[in-house]
Amino acid sequence: MYEATACANIALVKYWGKRDSDLNLPAAGSLSLTLDVLKTVTEVTPSSGSTDTLVLDGEPQSGRALARVSRFADLVRARTGVQTRLDIRSRNMFPTAAGLASSASAFAALAVGVARALGLSATPAELSALARQGSGSAARSIFGGFVRMHAGRAADGTDAVAEPLADIELPLHAVIAVAAAGPKSIGSTDGMELTRDTSPFYDAWIAQVDVDLAACQDALRSRDLERLATIVEGNCLAMHANAMAARPGIIYFRPATLWAIERVRELRRTGVPVFFTIDAGPHVVAFTPPAHEATVQAALTGHPDVARVLTSPPGAGAQVVER
Ligand code: DP6
Repeated sequence: MYEATACANIALVKYWGKRDSDLNLPAAGSLSLTLDVLKTVTEVTPSSGSTDTLVLDGEPQSGRALARVSRFADLVRARTGVQTRLDIRSRNMFPTAAGLASSASAFAALAVGVARALGLSATPAELSALARQGSGSAARSIFGGFVRMHAGRAADGTDAVAEPLADIELPLHAVIAVAAAGPKSIGSTDGMELTRDTSPFYDAWIAQVDVDLAACQDALRSRDLERLATIVEGNCLAMHANAMAARPGIIYFRPATLWAIERVRELRRTGVPVFFTIDAGPHVVAFTPPAHEATVQAALTGHPDVARVLTSPPGAGAQVVER
């Protein structure tokens, strides 16, 4: 049995749009921080059965979830010629009720686990390209710490891979205000397709991502938290503005989201170095140096719709061990 571990990541400069939907190639780059608290552990066991099996958090899966994972394993079977089926058991090590379950940690763990189980020898960049075919953000979770995803130019997607930004030493922790799960809004995959196809702001958004990527890397290297706040919050709000401008408009924010945004900006006005970002959901993720983590956690606690407030240091890249 092979035990694979990967952590989800949160993007400081967002991926929101594809240049090729079949190969899952992003239209622009992105930049993220891998987070230790959002960890997935996936056991991959070669089986003598005629089909793959999948158990998620103790629940046997069939239908779409199994088909997606099986199609992913097929990518590796096609490359190795090894036709062995796999028993896959995956669990999230964070509160799943929180609605934070992430395709990033899931497909990064699956990529390294399935590659090892089927004997595919692959470089980290190749594993990143493989994970990307499961989910775009998973390409970044192959690596720990700050990670840069490249849009690439090649039609076959071999250069649409992530790389670790190992020279950045800025210590940042995440404080995640988990807004109570409401009715499920549109997922990232469908949301970004609808945005590309219908938002009048889409091209401007893609052009802005390149500007934000360069500025973000520069601000991280020079440890300029004030500048980072402007870039990261601006990029997040531009992504959401773009999604809101799709037809029909996509609104991920809930009242608790706006409340948490205000708390973060109030803290900043009082001198606390902190800034926020928000993925395709209602949760607000604040970033702050470790010394301010408790202050930020306290400030984000107290709204009736904020179910819990998690904190996390940066996480490591995906790993796999034989047991
Ligand atoms: C808002 O990686 O979930 O979190 O490639 O279609 O699986 P697919 O999309 P996914 O999109 C992530 C969108 C985001 C921003 C980000 O993580 O960069």
